[in-house]
Amino acid sequence: MTVETTEHAGSAFGRQGRAAVLRGLGTYLPPRLVTNEELSRTLDTSDEWIRTRTGIRQRYWAEQGTATGDLAFEAGARALKSAGVDAVDAVVLATSTPDHPCPGTAPDVAARLGLGTVPAFDIAAVCAGFVYALASGASMIVSGLAARVLVIGAETYSTILDPADRNTSVIFGDGAGAVVLEAGSPDDPGALLDFDLGSDGGHKDLITVPAGGSRQRSEGPESDPSRFFFTMQGKQVFTHAVTRMGASSAALLDRLGWDPASVDRFVGHQANVRILHALSDHLGIDRDRAVVNLDQVGNTSAASIPLALAHGVDTGGIKAGERVLMTAFGGGLTWGSTAMVWPEINVV
Ligand code: COA
Repeated sequence: MTVETTEHAGSAFGRQGRAAVLRGLGTYLPPRLVTNEELSRTLDTSDEWIRTRTGIRQRYWAEQGTATGDLAFEAGARALKSAGVDAVDAVVLATSTPDHPCPGTAPDVAARLGLGTVPAFDIAAVCAGFVYALASGASMIVSGLAARVLVIGAETYSTILDPADRNTSVIFGDGAGAVVLEAGSPDDPGALLDFDLGSDGGHKDLITVPAGGSRQRSEGPESDPSRFFFTMQGKQVFTHAVTRMGASSAALLDRLGWDPASVDRFVGHQANVRILHALSDHLGIDRDRAVVNLDQVGNTSAASIPLALAHGVDTGGIKAGERVLMTAFGGGLTWGSTAMVWPEINVV
């Protein structure tokens, strides 16, 4: 299928005089650890099936009463600490599990972080949300609308999973990650060099929460609660994930003039280790260059990329000066890729 883009789409991003540069990274996981073994007690599944089909060994789920905004607040505070700053010009929060359908979660998080009356808004691009949020925050900086932006990806998928659905319950985890972007030069380590973003609403039904929006109106307290659960056509999603992230990554590398072999660290959306392997093979990037933390946290949707970045830094897999390629894919369908030379930062 030919993907139409406007004449000027994307490609001028990295050629502006001003860039958005990564200055801080912070993450937060809720304390409740949920092992495969624990899920096997209530679902017709096994640790062996989950490990071999997905690579996931465990995930963290928020306790009752903990919302996405709470995780976003913790990660946001850590990112600000990591950057050594206490003020920003805007907050962009990627999530598909907001605290409420209305209002957005970002203004509350910004207020709780003591960031005053700065613009704050949510981005709903499901598992590609963090890359979309990075693109939004970076665009505000490159355009001169802001000089420093807090970008957060936070999710509590445990709140929308059907506890009886083994197709989805074993895959998703809760968590949050955040970065501080600041105005700088495209030559600075940490500069977001370019973006490749896309969507295909023709496949919107592959990943969906049917109710809770305007398409299926509330029928009051007697409405069927299962309509509010997350659904996914796993097999088809798998294929799209590999194809879309593969094409998006390749397009970005091409625009940057980066040979795939020159990519030091590949940070793909953490959905399934088999997807990451297929992507690495497709792109021609050694499998051992892929950062993998889905075994520890599962698929955390919009929090996936920042959690993987932090894991990469913590475990020595991502070092200053290395070329890092990030790519994500999610419901919508949506996808996006970006890249940077990793800067010298302290992850909190
Ligand atoms: N435990 C045991 N068996 C399970 C299971 C589980 N947790 N989940 C599914 N199965 C069963 C299926 O019912 C099916 O049984 P059947 O053959 O009797 O019908 C069998 O395992 C194979 O199912 P299938 O869906 O073909 O498995 P799969 O190898 O495709 O793996 C996923 C399923 C969900 C792990 C995989 O498709 C996947 O990772 N998809 C992409 C998910 C993703 O990227 N999501 C995020 C995008 S944002």
